[in-house]
Amino acid sequence: MAPACRLGLLLSLLLPAVGASLPGTVVRLNKAALSYVSGLGKAPLQQALNVTVPYFLDRNGKVHQPTRIQTLNIHVSHFHLKFVADFGVRVLVAANFTFKVFRVPEPLELRLPVVVLADAHVAQGSIGTPVVSISACFPLFNNAMVPDGSARVAPGPLALMQKHVRAVLRNKLCLSISNLVQGLNVHLGTLIGLNPVGPESQIRYFMVNVPNITKDYISLDINAVLFLLGKPIVLPVDATRFMLPLHVGTDGAMAAVGLSQDLFDSVLLLLQKAGALNLDITGQLDSDDNLLNTSVLGQLIPEVARRFPKPMPVALKVQLGATPVVTLHTHNATLQLQPFVEVRAVASNSAFQSLFSFDMVVNLSLQLSVSKVKLRGTTSVLGDLQLTVASSNVGFIDTDQVHPLMDAVFKRPLLDHLNALLGIGVTLPNVVNLHYVNPEVFVYEGYVVVSGGLFYQH
Ligand SMILES: *[C@@H]1O[C@H](CO)[C@@H](O)[C@H](O)[C@H]1NC(C)=O
Ligand SMILES: *[C@@H]1O[C@H](CO)[C@@H](O)[C@H](O)[C@H]1NC(C)=O
Ligand SMILES: *[C@@H]1O[C@H](CO)[C@@H](O)[C@H](O)[C@H]1NC(C)=O
Ligand SMILES: *[C@@H]1O[C@H](CO)[C@@H](O)[C@H](O)[C@H]1NC(C)=O
Ligand SMILES: *[C@@H]1O[C@H](CO)[C@@H](O)[C@H](O)[C@H]1NC(C)=O
Ligand SMILES: *[C@@H]1O[C@H](CO)[C@@H](O)[C@H](O)[C@H]1NC(C)=O
Repeated sequence: MAPACRLGLLLSLLLPAVGASLPGTVVRLNKAALSYVSGLGKAPLQQALNVTVPYFLDRNGKVHQPTRIQTLNIHVSHFHLKFVADFGVRVLVAANFTFKVFRVPEPLELRLPVVVLADAHVAQGSIGTPVVSISACFPLFNNAMVPDGSARVAPGPLALMQKHVRAVLRNKLCLSISNLVQGLNVHLGTLIGLNPVGPESQIRYFMVNVPNITKDYISLDINAVLFLLGKPIVLPVDATRFMLPLHVGTDGAMAAVGLSQDLFDSVLLLLQKAGALNLDITGQLDSDDNLLNTSVLGQLIPEVARRFPKPMPVALKVQLGATPVVTLHTHNATLQLQPFVEVRAVASNSAFQSLFSFDMVVNLSLQLSVSKVKLRGTTSVLGDLQLTVASSNVGFIDTDQVHPLMDAVFKRPLLDHLNALLGIGVTLPNVVNLHYVNPEVFVYEGYVVVSGGLFYQH
């Protein structure tokens, strides 16, 4: 089986069944992105167009003499790309070829202006990557010139030489451009690479529809599959497709990446399932700023004082049973966590006694930022923690009294933990070596847009 087929089969096994909710993203590239690509493409194009010209049979009197032709220079003066609606991209290349013809008695320079027009179809490949193919291509030739200072040559032999060179270029230039596009496809294929999200969890993107191409932009529907310990996680069923409205993000930016609410929900579900959101907050004795010991607690809960006449450190075991909820409102992203917190007295041999437990609700504001290809988050606590006693082994607990203590010992470690985790960042759809530059993050009702330029790192 060909590697591409094997990969296709593998992916089809890994992808959730049709009908499952797929965390959608949309990558929209506009004309500015196309100009950037044409700027990048000039140098490789110049190289690709350097085709070998075979020996030319020059007539010298009555004998034909094999004559070497060397490509001295290729100057690509125009490389222009434009979108063709429902199809792909039209390519125009204008170049001057300068050849050196090693004639007897003296060599000759020949300059040939060439224009190549090609249509590149952009489609959805079988393994979920964008695939570009040249569907029509033809070179147009202007008359060859012999620059001043080069040897004079009679019109007859010049016409023959020109015919020879044109025939070679006609055969080879479009093939060279097709080969260049094949290289581009390999690069675009890196879209489906696996990227880490957090401990033991990964994300992979793939294209789910044919691209939507208008005269102004190309828009790719991309979904994510999230993996925990190498296995795709099952997402709640909801088959709505994410659509990115026009006119979002920064006007005229090369790229706009729309991230659906589903994507945020899925990433949090993944982090929760991975246990990455759980944490232990531990106390220590003889510390002036760590309030987690039984003597501090004993002042609020008499039973704790009675049971632990000798002070013992206290630990909070924080576990997220429910998936955090992200709410995306215009200019506002918030995160709600509902941790279950168990308060334990810990002996020096790390044996523990469970004292009591809380159900807690914490609202956090979520600030999003992008660097290179990663979306990162930082959080801060909004308002008060909400506590409800879930169970107690130490009698009645006055929540109002315990609340300030919990507030003081809980918020900082929680934020440190969350910010370290969300600081790892979720990789956005990307291909190898291509980054987003000056990205800005916009929060809209129910989705987020990352808008910015592109930069290819050689
Ligand atoms: C074209 O390729 C030949 C052989 O690889 C090389 O010697 C020559 O310098 C190249 N010319 C240009 C203009 O790139
Ligand atoms: C090719 O060279 C000629 C003569 O130097 C120049 O007039 C023309 O603009 C050039 N064309 C391109 C496409 O570079
Ligand atoms: C493509 O984009 C146009 C313009 O935004 C929209 O009307 C159309 O529904 C889109 N087509 C698909 C298949 O998404
Ligand atoms: C308990 O914590 C308080 C507050 O940090 C501290 O002042 C006190 O020394 C601690 N008690 C012991 C026995 O460590
Ligand atoms: C966004 O959230 C902040 C609190 O972080 C709040 O003060 C503000 O009113 C909210 N803005 C909107 C537009 O909802
Ligand atoms: C958290 O936010 C929700 C929704 O805005 C609100 O109903 C709830 O009272 C908040 N809870 C706390 C503890 O701030």
